[in-house]
Amino acid sequence: MTKNIAVIRGDGIGPEIVQQALRVLDRVAALYGHTFQYTDVDMGGCAIDKWGDPLPQEMLEKCLQSDSVLLGAVGGDKWNDLPAQMRPEKGLLRLRAGMGVYSNNRPAKIWPQLAEASPLKKSVVDKGIDFIIVRELIGGIYFGEHKTEGEPGQQVATDLLAYHESEIERIGRIGFETARKRGGRLCSVEKSNVLDSSRLWKKVMHRLAEQYPDVQLSDMFVDNCAMQIVRDPSQFDVIVTENMFGDILSDEASMITGSIGMIPSSSLGATSCGIYEPIHGSAPDIAGRDEANPVGAILSAAMMLRYSFDMSEEAQAIERAVSDYLDTGCRTADIMSGTMTLVGCSRCGEIIEGFIRKG
Ligand code: IPM
Ligand code: MG
Repeated sequence: MTKNIAVIRGDGIGPEIVQQALRVLDRVAALYGHTFQYTDVDMGGCAIDKWGDPLPQEMLEKCLQSDSVLLGAVGGDKWNDLPAQMRPEKGLLRLRAGMGVYSNNRPAKIWPQLAEASPLKKSVVDKGIDFIIVRELIGGIYFGEHKTEGEPGQQVATDLLAYHESEIERIGRIGFETARKRGGRLCSVEKSNVLDSSRLWKKVMHRLAEQYPDVQLSDMFVDNCAMQIVRDPSQFDVIVTENMFGDILSDEASMITGSIGMIPSSSLGATSCGIYEPIHGSAPDIAGRDEANPVGAILSAAMMLRYSFDMSEEAQAIERAVSDYLDTGCRTADIMSGTMTLVGCSRCGEIIEGFIRKG
């Protein structure tokens, strides 16, 4: 099969980790007889520097014309003082909205080899960590009106959190469908004791539940959920939640599995053309030092193969190779511990590439 992949290397450690994901994809292509064609797309700080815009229209077009988008990370201190519309993150938000990818899927699963890297007690980890956060990605407070008014010293800033029933319903369906394919348990996370948008969220989820009698729906307030994720993560199968809550909870969920550097994500909408990115940021402090963990990016490439290209065998080959790599005892700095062997970003990618074989 021939697939056109839009590649956004981005800022900070983005280019280094994406490079490793591409080498793994190239190996898969050679082994399975596919052709992956890469089109470079500028987005984020590097696009601001080059084009004066975090996501020029023609860059968005390139993504829309591709079969899918592989993304590293964007942002950095250098662009922190720019006005909101000009920040690197705005490029990412515009990309997500422009591609209509409303459903962001973030798995939190512990690799047995990394059980010790989890900050949770062994007795908690031993109960198992394997859940998915389904995060609404193109609505809510990140996309509502943002404004700051008034005189300096007396200013008022407002960010609008609005959800339309149809937006809740379409992400709710993804939550139910995901739960149906897994353990059949869906936890809807909101703050309906305070927010109207959450009360509507809860109402729509329960209305949908009637169409999914095989899925067990529960409700949880977001503050309680933040606590439950560290108290007993084994209770979760699928969590469905709005944009900002999902942003926050997915960072927390990643940490309990050992490192945010290990976690991939998929973002999909109505078509099979999605965005695949590790959930971590651009980590400017370690950029260019060959220290980053490329596994989140590599596993994002695997998700792309599975969910956008229907290549589950190939995706499995990558996931097996990651597991084989962890078995070698090699670790990047973020998950390094006592007796392990420290490796850099490119060596990590090289080892994983070397383990890719047909199942
Ligand atoms: C993420 C990131 C982004 C988000 C930022 C960079 C805009 O934190 O993908 O989780 O908030 O969605
Ligand atoms: Mg985030």
